[in-house]
Amino acid sequence: MVSSEAAPYAKTGGLADVVGSLPPALQELGDEVAVVLPRYGSIDLADTRCVWEHLRVYLGPDVYDLNIYQTAANHPVYLVDYPPLFGRKALYGKADADYPDNHIRFAVLARAAIGIARHLFATDIFHCHDWQAGLVPAYLSSTFATDPTFLGCRTVFTIHNLAFQGIFPKSVMPDVALDPRLFTPDGLEFWGKISYMKAGLAYSDALTTVSPTYAREIQSHEMGAGLDGVLRARSKVLNGILNGVDYAEWSPEVDSHIPARYSANDLSGKTICKRNLIEEFGLPAGAVDRPLIGLVSRFAVQKGIDLIIEAAPGVVAGGACIVALGTGDREYEDALRRLQQDYPDRIAVRVGFDNGLAHRIEAGSDMFLMPSRFEPCGLNQMYSLRYGTPPIVRATGGLDDTIEKDTGFKFAESSAEALLRSVGEAVRAYSNSSGWRERMRRGMAKDFSWRASAAAYSMLYRRLAGQAYAHAML
Ligand code: ADP
Ligand code: GLC
Repeated sequence: MVSSEAAPYAKTGGLADVVGSLPPALQELGDEVAVVLPRYGSIDLADTRCVWEHLRVYLGPDVYDLNIYQTAANHPVYLVDYPPLFGRKALYGKADADYPDNHIRFAVLARAAIGIARHLFATDIFHCHDWQAGLVPAYLSSTFATDPTFLGCRTVFTIHNLAFQGIFPKSVMPDVALDPRLFTPDGLEFWGKISYMKAGLAYSDALTTVSPTYAREIQSHEMGAGLDGVLRARSKVLNGILNGVDYAEWSPEVDSHIPARYSANDLSGKTICKRNLIEEFGLPAGAVDRPLIGLVSRFAVQKGIDLIIEAAPGVVAGGACIVALGTGDREYEDALRRLQQDYPDRIAVRVGFDNGLAHRIEAGSDMFLMPSRFEPCGLNQMYSLRYGTPPIVRATGGLDDTIEKDTGFKFAESSAEALLRSVGEAVRAYSNSSGWRERMRRGMAKDFSWRASAAAYSMLYRRLAGQAYAHAML
């Protein structure tokens, strides 16, 4: 697998959870999996060993002299070390701007993965995640098309989020050593520029995305982010495979980040978690008697943060409190901080990235808010179910696939009014405590573990590898 994120090494969102937990689930099914990841400045090399010095990647006029480290994980996780490109704390950019050399950074990642496949980890299937890995299939089907090492290799490209596409000017093609013949509308050309996402979509043998509903949605003009035509053209090889949850990480029975553990049979610990969370956020102790709504999110247009901001006074008027953790667009961060100032007893906001606090919000809240405009899969709503924290979601993508009327609350229209109506419904349901506990327990009993989804990936790999075998026999 080639990815720009994998828990616990580097994370900004759900991609990291998936690439962190799918490989062990595949291993249990008998697949051998390795992960290739940049070694960002935030990754400590203490528990790693250097497995290759001087892997040289030649890209256009430049040579990149890389070192590869392997972590202590049960499956090989190869860290691509090249401080001038990756030795920065943030993964993709600073403040509101992406790094200007991201096209080079992720071209080097792709070439490093191909080098690793040649020398360190004999590879049948390259599974590439999001645009940052999109050049792997492009290089394999051009530069390395006749390289005997890779004859019969197959590529899978998983779309985690079509909103981020890795678009760069055509003029960078020589710098990343892309064959000019790939610059066609059927290839990686996108409105006169190049798109690493489109490269992944065009040159991979199979495409997947992270929920069945999102797989359908992205083939429509409204939700295709300009790539719906390509996706429709490739719909025969595009499948939606729902993300799984790593319940060893996200379960109130075993969670080491929360102050008291609990289960569906004994929910008493959840009250302790709520009390602690209220204290941690500096809300008055009396807030424990009110329904507490949690939010953990990137603060981005995708997540409907503006709807929350607009609806917040109404939510407060309806009797609930809100605790929010996130980081992202400055304007949302500021607006949420202003709401905290306006309603200091009812709304508390933490701007930042804090994994432990994310767990404590799942455990200590009564309900969880995810009013996303679009959501390829979404993990937090599945975590919420497990923590007995019924989610309030907009019916889109993976949210629609995982939340039902009896486990959570769903609304269709992307508006503050619809959100507020759904919160009102949840607050009314909450006042019936035995009915609410039933709802919590139904959600806690849902199984979104990797079992089924890892098997779907494994079957896909085997089918592709079988095709390769059949080709070789011809
Ligand atoms: P996305 O990948 O679109 O951001 P997901 O729901 O798939 O959304 O996954 C988000 C993941 O990132 C979850 O594990 C969530 O807990 C975590 N997360 C998001 N924001 C923060 C934050 N500010 N602090 C800690 N964890 C966060
Ligand atoms: C993306 C999507 C999110 C999905 C995650 C992991 O970040 O926004 O919906 O759960 O990838 O696949």
